[in-house]
Amino acid sequence: MLQAVNGEKTDRPPFWLMRQAGRYLPEYRATRAEAGSFLDLCYSPKLAEEVTLQPLRRYDMDAAILFADILLIPDALGQPLAYKEGEGPVLDPIRSESDLKSLSLDNLHTRLAPVYETVDRLSGSIPDHCTLIGFAGAPWTVATYMVEGRGSKDYVNIKKWMYSDPAGFSKLIDILVETTVEYLTKQVEAGAEIIQIFDTWAGVLPDNEFNTWVIQPTKRIVDSLRQRFPGLPIIGFPKGVGGNLDAFVKGTGVSAVSLDTGVSLDWAAATIQPQVTVQGNLDPILLVTGGQAMVDRIHHIHQTLKNGPFIFNLGHGIIPQTPPENVALLAETVKGLKN
Ligand code: CP3
Repeated sequence: MLQAVNGEKTDRPPFWLMRQAGRYLPEYRATRAEAGSFLDLCYSPKLAEEVTLQPLRRYDMDAAILFADILLIPDALGQPLAYKEGEGPVLDPIRSESDLKSLSLDNLHTRLAPVYETVDRLSGSIPDHCTLIGFAGAPWTVATYMVEGRGSKDYVNIKKWMYSDPAGFSKLIDILVETTVEYLTKQVEAGAEIIQIFDTWAGVLPDNEFNTWVIQPTKRIVDSLRQRFPGLPIIGFPKGVGGNLDAFVKGTGVSAVSLDTGVSLDWAAATIQPQVTVQGNLDPILLVTGGQAMVDRIHHIHQTLKNGPFIFNLGHGIIPQTPPENVALLAETVKGLKN
């Protein structure tokens, strides 16, 4: 995994899967029930360590990803957050510069200390061949939840604020850049070897705004982390941005990009892979489907990307309806590939 993310050739592509820990696994549902709430699970180092290790025991992935959530930052800044059954995350929305007064950096590391402890525990408990990935949400995507108060279809509130008062909105982004750098610094100090930055909703922005609210904040995070940890591998995941991936790679300085399911593989091989490692991009619904259709697509992705640095993954996270035996077939198939 470390060789591939650093641009080197490997015998077969290393693999891990976004959301590899989660509700598709019965043992996850049991630990989640033991924890009580999802937030309690994220803030209980022993239980968070346990759910991180669960998929590795079944499928022996090449990387483990810290079990946490991108919305722990708003939570630690003091914005009330709950995960509601069937609804996803719900927050008290922040909609203007004056609302920013309700956020405070004072308790950031106290609230997030259990996450650092989870990383520390994992760095001792994952298998030797396995690499530990830490992560955070990108400022834009985290801001969408903070401003909309939940998942959104049209992003009306955040875009209205961004378009009408860019100076005020940039103060929220600045807070998120600063706290994300501090949060990820602690994760690396605790043992995270690679960092992934999730920008799930990057694709809803027009071109010019994409530079301001996705590329520039990500670049600031990458630059600050590399100042502290020279050579730190960082994977970006700006989902749904199509050809703008090229500008993202050139503008941010990430070591690798995760390709969403819609990215053209031939284009990525020709344009992105000569610059950085690529990761991706099996449709998570093919993992629900399984069988020959999934196996054929795994081979096709591998054929197209195997001549450059490549990490096998999905184009987005595993969904709860995924049969665990399909993940076993994926793991077996990927371990049989030869570069
Ligand atoms: O990948 C992993 O195994 C590590 C853990 C992880 C979670 N969330 C656990 C989780 C990671 C890396 C994330 C990232 C995350 N969280 C993103 C970016 C990646 C993506 O999927 O787009 C986003 C947008 C979030 C915010 C979030 N968290 C939403 C919208 C939801 C609700 C949707 C859902 O699946 O329920 C969550 C909850 C969440 N985060 C769950 C898990 C396992 C499900 C909670 C439960 O157990 O009920």
